[in-house]
Amino acid sequence: MEHVAFGRTGLRVSPVTLGCMSYGDPARGAHPWSLDEESARPFIRRALEAGINFFDTANVYSDGTSEEIVGRLLNEYADRDDIVLATKVFGRMRPGPNGGGLSRKAIMTEIDHSLRRLGTDHVDLYQIHRWDPRTPIEETVEALHDVVKAGKARYVGASSMYAWQFAKALKAAELNGWTRFASMQNHYNLLYREEEREMLPLCADEGIAVLPWSPLARGLLTREWGAETERTRGDAFGGTLYRDEDRAIVDAVGAVAEGRGVPRARVALAWLLRNPAVTSPIVGATRPHHLEDAVAALSLELTGDEAAALERHYTPRPVAGH
Ligand SMILES: NC(=O)c1ccc[n+]([C@@H]2O[C@H](COP(=O)([O-])OP(=O)(O)OC[C@H]3O[C@@H](n4cnc5c(N)ncnc54)[C@H](OP(=O)(O)O)[C@@H]3O)[C@@H](O)[C@H]2O)c1
Repeated sequence: MEHVAFGRTGLRVSPVTLGCMSYGDPARGAHPWSLDEESARPFIRRALEAGINFFDTANVYSDGTSEEIVGRLLNEYADRDDIVLATKVFGRMRPGPNGGGLSRKAIMTEIDHSLRRLGTDHVDLYQIHRWDPRTPIEETVEALHDVVKAGKARYVGASSMYAWQFAKALKAAELNGWTRFASMQNHYNLLYREEEREMLPLCADEGIAVLPWSPLARGLLTREWGAETERTRGDAFGGTLYRDEDRAIVDAVGAVAEGRGVPRARVALAWLLRNPAVTSPIVGATRPHHLEDAVAALSLELTGDEAAALERHYTPRPVAGH
């Protein structure tokens, strides 16, 4: 697998990232469909064998247990210096007025808890999971800079927010000589393309790595419209993101996949990967062939006509996933 530049930095990452929201204690947090440690084990091992070096989790996933499981498995199977480990901060981790958000206090508290759960002394990428309207962005960016200077993170990144907010965050870092955001983890796939208006052009212009989350629309792009899985039945957040009009796009993915004789997931990922603004889609894998398809998508080149057929039915829609 050929690794790619992580935005404007010298870091190189695999062109697909393993999304570790799928791994955690199903009894804790908001993902009853997540896989426990023993079930997650082969996915971490197989991802490493395939050349994937980039792993994404968050403090909130399954109430911290995603970080615990992923940390233990990576410590077992990988050399820490070979992998790029990313986590996030923002979501509520404890009751009380300072139990979440991006205040200096929250960031300094949460990085230490994440490192303890992950069993490491640093993360490679520390991302703000959302925009915090209650904290001045300067407070947040300076705290992130201090996390980097303390050796607890190598790079900082951001996730779903408006492009004007991200531009403001980049400006705050620039004006004050603080560590610059290296990446944007945003909601982007064939069923949600609003990022093409402002965020992707901003990232391309600024040399920011783009890491699309839910690149397969949480599985909707991988199967017939309406087909249910354990995850679709328990995915409360996913249920808020897509709508009935999306069926035509899902059918188009099916038609292109059939024409090529490949699984739909490969087509949906290959479409994302043709976009030069995209660095590394973050794929969720809950069955062995999911990883195989993600890796195979890297060598599937769609034609212009195929891409046009996949894009034709998209209509603008309200912002979703912030
Ligand atoms: N920053 C954020 O706010 C944010 C939000 C969401 C996610 N994320 C990150 O993005 C990662 C990926 O999110 P996601 O799991 O929603 O992504 P996704 O790749 O869009 O969806 C994964 C789901 O798609 C199905 N699937 C995947 N590969 C398949 C294949 N080859 N064939 C058939 N079905 C396939 C599976 O569904 P079934 O299990 O139903 O079979 C799987 O659980 C997360 O782990 C997390 O790291 C970040």
